[in-house]
Amino acid sequence: MHLHIYKDEEELAIALANWIEVLIRKTLEVKDQFSIALSGGESPKKLYQKLASNPYREKVNWGRLHVFWGDERVVPFNDERSNAKMAYDNLLSQVNIPTQQVHSIWTDIPPEQSAKQYEKILHQYFDDKQTTFDLVLLGLGEDGHTLSLFPGSAAINDEQSWVKADNAEQKGMKRITLMPTVINRSAAIVFLVTGENKATVLAEIISNPTHEKYPAQLIQPANGELYWFLDEAAAKNL
Ligand code: 6PG
Repeated sequence: MHLHIYKDEEELAIALANWIEVLIRKTLEVKDQFSIALSGGESPKKLYQKLASNPYREKVNWGRLHVFWGDERVVPFNDERSNAKMAYDNLLSQVNIPTQQVHSIWTDIPPEQSAKQYEKILHQYFDDKQTTFDLVLLGLGEDGHTLSLFPGSAAINDEQSWVKADNAEQKGMKRITLMPTVINRSAAIVFLVTGENKATVLAEIISNPTHEKYPAQLIQPANGELYWFLDEAAAKNL
């Protein structure tokens, strides 16, 4: 586990954008494509805006990226709460990634069907590969949830599925989420966590990494690396 703590969200976003640019460049020296799973919520917005601006917009070889999502809220794409819309507005609409390499989670079909469809896409993309994603970006909720894996949600105990639909409304929305099974086979997993409201649960999770009290503790890379990129407010209890 690697811990990176920065003064504030701005410094964190710049440092993580640099770190990601280097990871992509180094990976593409040995691989044809780079696969990334984006997170939703508020925390990654500033990072996406940095990656969409120079020098990163010019430095990153966007044409060789495949973009996926870690989870989605079951709302239409043009809904402000859509994780896909947030990523498009803050990053994807400003960089040149071929449309067929942007794999959004469909929310205009029944969630179970969409989960099955996305699982099929992931198997098609990863089955012949040692690791799954080259990079996964994750957030953390005050309740210890990550992706759309919430404490007490039935989906959590499924160790077979790569993608699940959770019909229990979380924050007023049904969800489709990737599961630890596919996330934990990734090469690099980054938790991006900001704000004092996350400090208590974060300290508990980081000091008890193998406990399984919180969904975020199910994220334990099999062969890859786990990184925590934090601002000082979130890290205040560490
Ligand atoms: C989602 C996210 C979720 C998010 C956390 C933190 O769809 O809501 O994927 O897991 O990362 O809820 O959200 P904030 O960054 O908004 O605090």
